[in-house]
Amino acid sequence: MARITAGVATSHIPLLGVAVDQGKTRDDYFGPIFKGYDWTKEWEKAQKPDVVILVYNDHASAFDMKIVPTFAIGCAEHYKPADEGWGPRPVPDIEGHADLGWHIAQSLILDEFDMTIINEMDLDHGLTVPLSLMFGTPEAWPVKVIPVAVNVVTYPVPSGNRCWALGEAIKRAVETYPEDLNVQIWGTGGMSHQLQGTRAGLINAEWDNRFLDAMIGDTDAARWIPHIEYLRETGSEGIEMVMWLIMRGALGKETRCLHRHYYAACSNTAVGHLVLEPVQPDAEEIS
Ligand code: DHB
Ligand code: FE
Repeated sequence: MARITAGVATSHIPLLGVAVDQGKTRDDYFGPIFKGYDWTKEWEKAQKPDVVILVYNDHASAFDMKIVPTFAIGCAEHYKPADEGWGPRPVPDIEGHADLGWHIAQSLILDEFDMTIINEMDLDHGLTVPLSLMFGTPEAWPVKVIPVAVNVVTYPVPSGNRCWALGEAIKRAVETYPEDLNVQIWGTGGMSHQLQGTRAGLINAEWDNRFLDAMIGDTDAARWIPHIEYLRETGSEGIEMVMWLIMRGALGKETRCLHRHYYAACSNTAVGHLVLEPVQPDAEEIS
């Protein structure tokens, strides 16, 4: 059967995509940021995941105020990078896994999560920057991707609890897919950042690090953080962090941290990155 073997969390700052595309990842500004992804790049080469369920948000590239899906799942075979105003990023097209995508969609909907099914969309920096951070600049991405788009742009956005529960349902869905597939789930966005208004540039490193702590071990405290706390403590765009809770919920009761990186600031944003492994309670009880 298919299994979720790991969770990856990362910020998706568009400027990091520009740094990759312009070959600036080792300069004085970007060097310390990209250094924090070197471990993960090597680890991914060894892990060789077949599929990444990539939880991200669209930034008015595929969706706008005409359509605001709360949770959407990509079931297409193929996606293109979005044109975000400066032309599409010069990165490979993204291959989907339509069969697993439809399986997860069916399982989630019968599990009472009313997903929007997407068969055609372009993918913006929320999804392509994490791919660049984890895989660098390959000719073709080494994984298939199932995009899971979450509305964190227009209120009302989903609660942390609902996001965590969606992650739990995604775990159940993957584990009923009969083919042996090595599946990772990634949660993207964050950390603290506010892009506009009088608090633009807000960064709260202490809160961010407490949030990173809460992704590790057997605590589910983060699923209960109210929207108002993200807004007050982490700025208006800090709400992107609810997407990490989908990743965390899909890893089960307990996680082990394999790698952790935090850096402030890049652009207006704190950079946060975690690699997590599910601790399998069954395996430990048996041994
Ligand atoms: C920035 C961060 C984001 O998450 C985003 O979507 C756009 C811009 C930034 O810090 O510049
Ligand atoms: Fe964003």
